[in-house]
Amino acid sequence: MLRLLTAGESHGPDLVAIVEGLPAGIRVEAPTLDRDLARRQTGYGRGARSTRIERDLVEVTSGVRGGRTTGAPVTLRIPNRDFANQPSNPARLTAPRPGHADLAGRMKYGIDDFRTVRERASARETAARVAAGALAKELLGSFGARVGSFVLQIADVGANLGGGLGHLDEGALARLFSAAEADPVRCPDPSASERMRAAIDGARSGGETVGGVFCVFATGVPAGLGSYVQWDRKLDGLLARGVCSIPAVKGVEVGPAFEVAAMPGTRAQDSIEWRDGRLARGTNMAGGLEGGVTNGRPVVLRAAMKPLSSVRARVPTVDFLTGHAADAPYVRSDVCAVPAAGVVAEAMVAWVLAEALVDRFGSDRLDAMLAAWHAVSSSDLPGDVPPVAARGETGQ
Ligand SMILES: Cc1cc2nc3c(=O)[nH]c(=O)nc-3n(C[C@H](O)[C@H](O)[C@H](O)COP(=O)(O)O)c2cc1C
Repeated sequence: MLRLLTAGESHGPDLVAIVEGLPAGIRVEAPTLDRDLARRQTGYGRGARSTRIERDLVEVTSGVRGGRTTGAPVTLRIPNRDFANQPSNPARLTAPRPGHADLAGRMKYGIDDFRTVRERASARETAARVAAGALAKELLGSFGARVGSFVLQIADVGANLGGGLGHLDEGALARLFSAAEADPVRCPDPSASERMRAAIDGARSGGETVGGVFCVFATGVPAGLGSYVQWDRKLDGLLARGVCSIPAVKGVEVGPAFEVAAMPGTRAQDSIEWRDGRLARGTNMAGGLEGGVTNGRPVVLRAAMKPLSSVRARVPTVDFLTGHAADAPYVRSDVCAVPAAGVVAEAMVAWVLAEALVDRFGSDRLDAMLAAWHAVSSSDLPGDVPPVAARGETGQ
């Protein structure tokens, strides 16, 4: 079983992730983890804190020797490079910001100072998830799986992909990902990217924030991960939980689910075909999951992020010290974090898929996991099981 715990506060000395259950033998290099941390910090629309003050670098302090996991719990520590500049006794915050965890935190934990709530509820915590997700990506990479993301929409500006999500194969997803990686807003459509940046600039000058939609996908995922035999083993549900746990993500869709909802049943299914001596599928409307199990096609999800709650423009709240109406306090903030949320979603998808891999081929050692996978893939993965007729046998 794979387990992940994160700890740490937004303005505390560090963030920590403890990862347990990774097999021994996975390659771990801090620069690979740092690359994803840097990707989380960039993206047009981020505030000064993410882009200038804290440049996240990870320290791997246990569970790795000679650049490989040992099977022991891995500790990932991300020091807060801004910690020394923090005031030792910051003023209490007594007015909750709508849309943040402030008021809910007071109701749940009885905390009077909303600053205490935000220290843990802040999306800064996602840096620890991204570091852990980079480890999960290494494990997935050993099985030939790759995880990526790109932005589809910022505010009301949508990207044109030249076709719906259900028509993107491995090659198309890889091309969209590499175009997005070179784009300031992580959008593969250059003309939409320009309009998205204009929308972010407009929001910034009006004291507003914007949300959007991103796609997160995984290619080369072994078939047969997840299960339909019990509700809490269905991988579509587990992936949706992982992505929806990202702060400000409020909707998750498997494949083009909302588009499919309007289609006739015949168009909504991905045909099963026998092509050039191999099993093949038509479209990928299912987003790579049928019955909560990976089917060998790319796993494709889409997620919606709300506009960020810290806005410079006036938002009404109540000051709990005075009991009077007040304006929500403004804290330096991002205008748009959709490109960064896509990177966090990669970490969550990689994590959930890694859990499913360990569940299926689990072992204490990577080589034994790979051997278990090869044993299955040479017997029952799509393409290796010709229908009876194609094998020249007589069916019943
Ligand atoms: C990468 C990332 C950066 C974020 N940055 C901000 C921010 O600068 N300002 C803000 O108000 N919310 C930001 N958020 C969203 C808040 O953390 C989130 O809305 C808040 O914790 C309440 O959680 P909820 O929206 O999921 O209910 C960010 C989210 C992510 C994923």
